Amino acid sequence: MPERQRHGASIGQPLTRRDGHAKITGSARYSADFRPEGLAHAVMAVSSVARGRVTHLDVAAAEAHPGVVAVITPENAPALAKSPDLKDNPFAFRLDLLQNDGVRYANQPIAVVIAETLEAATEGAALLAPRYESEAVSVALGAGEVFRPETIGAGSATDEGSGDIAAGMAAAETRIEATYDTAAQYHNALEPHSSVAEWDGDRLTLYTPTQALWIAKGRLAGLFGIPQENIHVVCHYLGGGFGSKGFITAPQILGIMAAKLVGRPVKLVTRREQMFGPVGHRAATRQTLKLGATRDGTLTALDHHTLTLTSRYDDFVEPSGILSRHLYAAGAIATTHAVSRADIGTPIFMRAPGEASGSVAVESALDELALELDLDPLEIRLRNYAEVEPISHRPFSSKALRECYTQGAERFGWASRPRLPRQMRDADGLLVGWGLGTATYPAGMMQGEARATLRADGTGLIETAAQDMGQGAWTVLAQIGADGLGLPIDRIELRIGDSNLPNGGLAGGSTGTATSGTAVDNAAKGAIAALAELAVNDRASPLYGAGNAGVTAADGRLARRDDPARSESFGEILARAGKTSVEAKGQGQGDPAAQKTYAMHAHGAVYAEVKVDPDLGQIRVTRLVGAFAAGRIINPHLVRSQYYGGMIWGVSLALHEHAVLDPRSGRVMNGNLAEYHIPVNADVPAMEAILVEEHDPHVNPLGIKGVGEIGITGTAGAIANAVWHATGVRVRDIPITLDRLL
Ligand code: MOS
Repeated sequence: MPERQRHGASIGQPLTRRDGHAKITGSARYSADFRPEGLAHAVMAVSSVARGRVTHLDVAAAEAHPGVVAVITPENAPALAKSPDLKDNPFAFRLDLLQNDGVRYANQPIAVVIAETLEAATEGAALLAPRYESEAVSVALGAGEVFRPETIGAGSATDEGSGDIAAGMAAAETRIEATYDTAAQYHNALEPHSSVAEWDGDRLTLYTPTQALWIAKGRLAGLFGIPQENIHVVCHYLGGGFGSKGFITAPQILGIMAAKLVGRPVKLVTRREQMFGPVGHRAATRQTLKLGATRDGTLTALDHHTLTLTSRYDDFVEPSGILSRHLYAAGAIATTHAVSRADIGTPIFMRAPGEASGSVAVESALDELALELDLDPLEIRLRNYAEVEPISHRPFSSKALRECYTQGAERFGWASRPRLPRQMRDADGLLVGWGLGTATYPAGMMQGEARATLRADGTGLIETAAQDMGQGAWTVLAQIGADGLGLPIDRIELRIGDSNLPNGGLAGGSTGTATSGTAVDNAAKGAIAALAELAVNDRASPLYGAGNAGVTAADGRLARRDDPARSESFGEILARAGKTSVEAKGQGQGDPAAQKTYAMHAHGAVYAEVKVDPDLGQIRVTRLVGAFAAGRIINPHLVRSQYYGGMIWGVSLALHEHAVLDPRSGRVMNGNLAEYHIPVNADVPAMEAILVEEHDPHVNPLGIKGVGEIGITGTAGAIANAVWHATGVRVRDIPITLDRLL
């Protein structure tokens, strides 16, 4: 095999986004920007009750409104090839597609109005004036029957642990038990879910934001009873996803049904307030942590129980306890989950599902224990440092968490932290507190494929149906392709965001770059091997006889390894072979043997400073330092951006986001961006993200772990701990709001 550059010209460079100019200038076309000829506009009507059925819709009034083309209700909804409630795989989440008049949650779609203009469709939807037969609802945590779910998250075991937890607790010299509540959060990507759909017979062209083009294609093929090859999904850009675009949702599919019904292209965009229900959310949790330790802070028992909610009709369960299975060494570990049903839309994966809510509870509990033991929070974490994965006893494929703790602490100035709370004030008299949280997220991989082409003009083409929801795929896949093909990045053309390209896997689970990046790397390797094959077998080439193993690719040339002066450009090799290009495909997937042998996780340490007004209770995060180790960093600039985004989400989780459900109506009372608080610029502190070096020879050949989600973990706990350190008040109801401190 020819040797390729690993630390080449592109990988590791802090390049700015290749799609940045298009986005800033507005030339980047998002899904709802497409306007096929004859486009009609669809607007959803959604239920204002959370349980029952629709008894009346004034379809005649809507149809009579000028410009209205059609109204879809369960009476005339296009037939589907299979029920959207059919669970034929664990990720086929049940969808409300107007197949009956039932209502399972507030904001559920109950009709769609299609019109010549958005305004007419909006007015038509208002004229439907639905009437309902409604039933009493239950939306509170634990209010309904509580049971053990079959699986949690992405199919993990509900309960897992090791050792004898009762014995571990008995052996402890200090014990704490504390219960933490985390609030429901709703994904609020800037770009709402939308579709622009156009049918041509039984062929569908769809512009829709999705984190997984091929998964979307597969789901739609099943629902509409057409071959996958008939479906063309285009998604060049997403305005965020956060997990809610991992699986295609009801509003997107209703747009496709509308186009089918009226026989012309239709655009449907979910309104902001309609995002609170049909596109998933992070469920509220109540987590009970029981920790036992010897006097020196060694954990003898770690018992993490999660109670959460799911919908009345589907099965997603927030897996908050999973991180306790691999984060801290403890003599005995128990992680259990219970769930109660509620009249809510089905929760779904939301950025760092499980780890985000779980981490704030675990990190808070550990600090509560440290207080009992009079230990520094960093010290107690180091005393329980997991040298191997606690339950499985597998070695880590790599783990530079100790370096994260150390580098972060130095940068932050942690050593001068007073042990007791309420010890620091700033010049204005505000209480100052410092807190620490450990960050962790699994380094997983999906399955993907890519195609690489070397062209006679000295350029390279990389193709894979990956998606860029802001994480930087447009840039990092080109960087990997450039080094793989031995070309400068400005000679790389990248095609992603189109389902006709090879399956690029999922932009989710922090697996995107590892999966599609590995596929790109392998495809590029294959293309170079094909080119080398031409050269070394050609007597006219200076590379003749070098053998595949003796050739390197760089700067658009192949060179003999033993005599780099003997080289030839890609174009010369192709021209003499009478070819305009060579191409190869490559796969991206984890190595099952390595995955069995090693535990694979990214890690980090987040240090937070908060200032609290002693009279008003107002909390400000003033400083965040995160140090993260996540294997090879393809682009430090974009990785830092991912960490910042994650850490800001941690601020949001700790202090802001809280969907308030009305227990009587089951409606989200603050279901809009005016009242559903997320951090604005004024809430975002001075942030630093330290990229801790970590070499991982096992996760994949490039050594890539994901970075999309880990920034949230650790951060919220660090902030909660800092609030305690500032005030001496331990708030166990997250988000922490000022009223809790008074
Ligand atoms: Mo994520 S919740 O895997 O998009």
